[in-house]
Amino acid sequence: MKGIVLAGGAGSRLHPITQAVSKQLLPVYDKPMVYYPLSVLMLAGIREILLITTPHDRPQFERLLGDGGQWGCEIEYAEQPSPDGLAQAFLIGAEFLDGQPSALVLGDNIFYGHGLGGELQQSVARIDEAGGCVLFGYRVADPERYGVAVIDADGVLVDIEEKPEKPRSNLAITGLYFYDGRASEFAAGLRPSPRGELEITDLNRRYLAEGTAELVDLGRGTAWLDTGTHESLLDAAHFVQVLQNRQGIAIACLEEVALHRGYIDADRVLEIADGMGRSTYADYLRKVADAHLGGES
Ligand code: G1P
Repeated sequence: MKGIVLAGGAGSRLHPITQAVSKQLLPVYDKPMVYYPLSVLMLAGIREILLITTPHDRPQFERLLGDGGQWGCEIEYAEQPSPDGLAQAFLIGAEFLDGQPSALVLGDNIFYGHGLGGELQQSVARIDEAGGCVLFGYRVADPERYGVAVIDADGVLVDIEEKPEKPRSNLAITGLYFYDGRASEFAAGLRPSPRGELEITDLNRRYLAEGTAELVDLGRGTAWLDTGTHESLLDAAHFVQVLQNRQGIAIACLEEVALHRGYIDADRVLEIADGMGRSTYADYLRKVADAHLGGES
């Protein structure tokens, strides 16, 4: 399975901060925002990744992430000149995907939870075996801000509505989607919505209409954080800070994910740490590599 990180958009709700810097490069506590969605793809076992950004922001992403080889991944880049909708990722990424199954993650979505990696790998397996799409639902206090899932008494997905004024449930659809190899073909058949965008909700409804859209309820044990406003961005940073400092772990440390999944070895992690100098992130990398070399991990 291949992965797409969509990191376009003008980030206008965070102006003036995002007038010069892409929203997805802003810090969430101790690392750039885009590390979090990238870690989700890597946890799912996805190593071929297309990062879609604006022509203006592309050089900064390239400087930060390079070709992904340092994490045993392959990162390519593509541009979305104007924010014409999330489903456009599958038109821009059609050549990259080449008809293969894919995961799309939004560059500003943060997921954290025990057992999340296993859940993601199951979803990849489900797509490989049965096709269709897998969406993730998460209960929120303000569903009207999101795509909203409507489920029946058995928990089966029956409808999806984009930012409804009167949500029929509090189950938001998160910015992580798994699709079979038809996503680009289906996206090509979409028409822009009244707000002028190719809506991911319309792509999902296409799968729903043929009965192949599955909803996984992430449940209360997983955190799905939004970074769309100043408050939510700060909340996300505090969340990461509190957990990391309490548990002595790092959330979305790409080198650690790559090491644990066997994409790179501990010597590579130490090399990366040395190249980073004296940051606390580099100190953490040394700890992770030493523990691995000592057989503790
Ligand atoms: C988009 C999608 C929405 C989804 C949300 C998740 O909203 O359109 O369905 O719930 O991402 O972050 P947007 O970020 O464009 O407001």
